[in-house]
Amino acid sequence: MRLIVYTGKGGTGKTVSACSTAIKLAENKYRTLLISSDPAHTLTDAFAMPDLGYEPKEILTNLQALQIDPLMEMNKQYTTILSYMATLFHARGIDETLAYELAMLPGMTQLFSLLKIEEVSCTKRFDAVVLDMAASGEALRYLYFPKLVGSIGRKLTGLVGMFSGFARIFQPLSRLPTPSQNVLQNELELLARLDNLNMIMMNQDITSIRLVTNPDTFSIENAKRAFMSASLYGINVDLAIINKIMPTGSSDLYYAEWADFQRVKIEEAKANFYPLPVKEVKLYGTELRGIEMLRENGQLMFENQDPADVLFRGNAFHFAKENSLLRMTVKVPFTEKDDFDVERHSDKLTIKVKTRVGYMVNTVPLPAATMGMKLAKAKLQGDELTVLFEQIV
Ligand SMILES: Nc1ncnc2c1ncn2[C@@H]1O[C@H](COP(=O)(O)OP(=O)(O)OP(=O)(O)O)[C@@H](O)[C@H]1O
Ligand SMILES: [Mg+2]
Repeated sequence: MRLIVYTGKGGTGKTVSACSTAIKLAENKYRTLLISSDPAHTLTDAFAMPDLGYEPKEILTNLQALQIDPLMEMNKQYTTILSYMATLFHARGIDETLAYELAMLPGMTQLFSLLKIEEVSCTKRFDAVVLDMAASGEALRYLYFPKLVGSIGRKLTGLVGMFSGFARIFQPLSRLPTPSQNVLQNELELLARLDNLNMIMMNQDITSIRLVTNPDTFSIENAKRAFMSASLYGINVDLAIINKIMPTGSSDLYYAEWADFQRVKIEEAKANFYPLPVKEVKLYGTELRGIEMLRENGQLMFENQDPADVLFRGNAFHFAKENSLLRMTVKVPFTEKDDFDVERHSDKLTIKVKTRVGYMVNTVPLPAATMGMKLAKAKLQGDELTVLFEQIV
């Protein structure tokens, strides 16, 4: 099975890119499932079809689509854990209704779409799954819970504490309600599923994340951060799509200026996503919607390429901890050694390189681990920049 995950900032075109890819995959004879967990039912809007419902529904030959209702999934599978967490919060003097609200932690909604993939992969009914994933990042950290809690069965009560993110406030545990057999059983199952999901997501032959951005600063910055954090989690990113590009050459000054601005942003984005392949998608004359338009868009995006291929492999970011040092290696689109300058600005690194055509600037998002550290050394070798951070004492 191939799993392709589209992610990016709101409104950039994740849903349309996911739909277009899924249609092209189905036409290439892959048994394809398209999944979305957007509560706004955007798959229905994109395909311009009546409500899809919460069971896989056939859109075209070889293409089924599924809309996930996170609350329903939660009710179906995890009420025991959720109520236990709510009980813990309640025991701390928090109003019961609010306790339920708090127990539903950030990223849980996305987690349910990921767990759905784990469920689907076990059925072996699909060759390709395309996931339209709203906000990125938060859900990915749950993938590491099995590792955090330790090997399954060793420390049964760990997960609830981890889930809460405030394990320490539950001390001393003796004065709090102990989890029932049911909660423990549920925890075990969830851990096993997360473990399996982790294996699926980390397997670069199976999973690829694809970034969707527009030619503007905000969505490009967002995609860069997603790129860095996916690398940190060990998940392969194989493509960046710059969507909604205005055509150049308009006689209207207003449009011409926008198009010129976008050209600059596109070049900047390409330098920043290096060495990922980048696809440019035009802004259509009308809203991109309906099966015919989505099919055409899929054709323009991939041409003769198979969207199921892994389009890029290789770590753009690499992190290694050596005692009090953190070594970060990042690919940059420069090869000239002399005259480069690296500066750190809070959670970003700015790399300035003097080239024949003037200065080029690249900014690289930094992981949270560098927060208490300072930049000690930087070295540029070929297209690889190595930066050493050391602990501030
Ligand atoms: N290249 C394009 N040309 C014209 N319209 C487009 C293009 N790409 C996307 N759109 C339109 O932009 C809107 C947003 O697209 P889409 O819903 O795919 O974005 P999204 O990233 O999924 O948004 P959200 O974050 O809300 O889920 C839709 O109306 C869509 O039809
Ligand atoms: Mg969407």
